[in-house]
Amino acid sequence: MNIHALLVSRFTEALDKLGVENAPVPVARSARPEFGEYQFNGAMALAKQLRQKPRDIAEKILELVNLGDVAGKLEVAGPGFINIHLSDDWLANQCELALHDPRIGVAKDVPKTVVVDYSSPNLAKEMHVGHLRTTIIGDAVVKVLEFLGHKVIRQNHMGDWGTQFGMLLAHLSDKLESEVAETALSDLENFYREAKVRFDEEEGFADRAREYVVKLQGGDAHCLTLWKQFIDISIQHSEEVYEKLNVTLTREDIMGESAYNDDLANVVRELKDKGIAVEDQGAQVVFISELADKEGNPAVYIVQKSGGGYLYSTTDLAAMRYRSGKLNADRTLILTDARQALHFKQTEIVGRKAGFMKETQTYEHCPFGMMLGSDGKPFKTRTGGTVKLVELLDEAVERAGKLIAERASDLSQGELEEVARKVGIGAVKYADLSKNRTTDYVFNWDTMLSFEGNTAPYLQYAYTRVKSIFRKSGIAMTDLPGAMVLTETQEHALAVLLLQFEEVIAVVSREATPHVLCTYLYDVASAFMRFYEACPILKDGIDERVRNSRLELSALVAKTLEHGLSLLGIETLEKM
Ligand code: ARG
Repeated sequence: MNIHALLVSRFTEALDKLGVENAPVPVARSARPEFGEYQFNGAMALAKQLRQKPRDIAEKILELVNLGDVAGKLEVAGPGFINIHLSDDWLANQCELALHDPRIGVAKDVPKTVVVDYSSPNLAKEMHVGHLRTTIIGDAVVKVLEFLGHKVIRQNHMGDWGTQFGMLLAHLSDKLESEVAETALSDLENFYREAKVRFDEEEGFADRAREYVVKLQGGDAHCLTLWKQFIDISIQHSEEVYEKLNVTLTREDIMGESAYNDDLANVVRELKDKGIAVEDQGAQVVFISELADKEGNPAVYIVQKSGGGYLYSTTDLAAMRYRSGKLNADRTLILTDARQALHFKQTEIVGRKAGFMKETQTYEHCPFGMMLGSDGKPFKTRTGGTVKLVELLDEAVERAGKLIAERASDLSQGELEEVARKVGIGAVKYADLSKNRTTDYVFNWDTMLSFEGNTAPYLQYAYTRVKSIFRKSGIAMTDLPGAMVLTETQEHALAVLLLQFEEVIAVVSREATPHVLCTYLYDVASAFMRFYEACPILKDGIDERVRNSRLELSALVAKTLEHGLSLLGIETLEKM
């Protein structure tokens, strides 16, 4: 059920009857409960066209609009708003439908093909916290899109190519004389550092590294074997993180930079043929006048270096063409940190000029802010190194385990371990997902693991609370008889929220903003707690109809929390 869409369609009909066509139909959430749940704000804008007072227009629309079944009360307010108070009966009815629907009342969208480029770590190094955000935000977006019925194609655009591989392969080749690749590459961070030191300091090594690059690009068999070994082990490191994070990416989703190698020369040739790229100091560049500076100098976008080498930009143009052409993507979403925003803006301008995408196909860079340490600077280890994701996640589980052990009384050792894993990983993911996507945020163990506030443990706890009510009631969630009746304000408020799930999902799918879903789930859990305080469910002597209705409402809360959290890639528990 999308209440907003329903209201828009009813008001559109009303405006038709009034003889107004193609006017915007602004329906918004009301700011305060006294104003109902929604407001129609369109009358003011029509005053000029209809030459009437906005309040009079609002009165007319109020008579014409067919909301008898939906609204308990409609009123004209202020300069010409129409306040919509949803009816308890209608809400109860819609909640019942949602409760018995496996999709909890969320309709599918018109299906589109959506490419989502996320995670995309650089394989030369260990995955670090910078890749945490893209990985989990991307995975949540993917799940939401799939839930709405879209065909989603995951693209893990791994950085598996580039000049730094010369140095890495030269170093690997030496190392393999005394040890196996798995051992040599067990710590990629270390390995990279060693290779870099040799590159900077060891006589002749830099030359060898460059030779390796040339050989690798030329398809030399020995170099390719070394490269494959390196890539394979590095991918295994990423997979370990994906598994711990409960993220859906698999090997099949990898379409790394190297996959576009053979197409890069074509891309540059095409850009030249179309007069988009020109030679400048030996390099092939596109001058982007749309992005000129104050003095009018166009932005310079290099697609081939003077030595002949290709760049990140060239690969992204090839990827764009592949996704639009071969994969037929209606939308392409790319999740990286905000520092790459300009790159994607330029890539889109150049790619569109070259006709690498159809006009109707969208190219959506979804930037996100950085994860910061308590000092407000980019998140680092105490000694200033990059924090390995695997270690961070292990620490989360350990910390959650300690907290749960302090609280819990009746969990077995096995249960405790499972709870610790779900809460620990859930807390890290949720802390990240719940922050406005585009802003930086401070990583803080204590707040993310708190059972109060907008955190995963709070939501997981709210869920177990409903579960425990059902255990006490002796009634199965799947076996709820009777019609829902809403009488108390807390019930009304909770029912409205529960029916706004689809509206929220629509926003997340349109804007790739899982934090909107987090805020929503937090609101649901909080409204449930208020309802639970005010409206007894299992109290002795309570009317059976009322008890059953409240159980149904609680069941819908549990289903919504469970489904919502699962879209965020966060697991729920029966007890904690
Ligand atoms: N490997 C890049 C990085 O770690 C991210 C790649 C994002 N995707 C893309 N098509 N450029 O920053």
